[in-house]
Amino acid sequence: MARRAIVAANWKMNGGLALINTIIDGLTSVELQENVDVVICPSFPFLSELISQAKVNKLDKVIHVGAQNISAHESGAYTGEVSTQMLQELSVEFAIIGHSERRSYYKETSTQIAHKVNAALKAGITPILCIGESEAERVAEQTETVLASQLQPVIDEVGIEKFIDVVIAYEPVWAIGTGKTASSEMAQETHKFIRQFLAKVNANVADKVPLLYGGSVNASNCEELFAQPDIDGGLIGGASLQVEQFKVICSTAKGK
Ligand code: 13P
Repeated sequence: MARRAIVAANWKMNGGLALINTIIDGLTSVELQENVDVVICPSFPFLSELISQAKVNKLDKVIHVGAQNISAHESGAYTGEVSTQMLQELSVEFAIIGHSERRSYYKETSTQIAHKVNAALKAGITPILCIGESEAERVAEQTETVLASQLQPVIDEVGIEKFIDVVIAYEPVWAIGTGKTASSEMAQETHKFIRQFLAKVNANVADKVPLLYGGSVNASNCEELFAQPDIDGGLIGGASLQVEQFKVICSTAKGK
């Protein structure tokens, strides 16, 4: 078994040309351990600039580029949406799908998210499928039920074999942007549940799927989190906007 580690930056609705320059400068000197992919997900208008800056600065082997969302539709009258074909044309390799902010503010359902994962896979774009429970759900001991209800529609739609090309990010909603990280034990326990849930359908696939933790990951807590057996890296919000912190997080990750 060999799983790559992934450190993905979700810039959310932050950053622009200046941050692209800073991240390019910063990652020029980053020292990554073996089997690590760094993925930067800026807003749509900046994808193309990031891709060309990475190329010009010979960082295109280090920096992979991802979108923060995609449309499930191929093309047509969907004002404001961005298709996988458009992203493919730019050589975008990853797409965050089903982030909790999209689920809560834009009312994306697990069924719509499953359609998006399918669209990404068909276009050869690696989906970073986000799942996670709210604080109330954790307190009510509903975490596993919620995660299962978020995963099952995707498994039903794309088939478990396709999960070999999927990255899952477990982001407890109560830990996002709050400074409250899940303890490494709690995060590991939940990641283990996710892997076992997939293993019930296909153990080989479950072994290979990278599972990222997200929610207030920073330069100080990443080492303990990434050391957990079922945590294969992180999806980083706030700390990814601070390049020195992000560099520490990237250089801490290691493939398993
Ligand atoms: P923070 O790292 O800011 O908590 O955000 C996590 C997140 O939502 C990444 O997708």
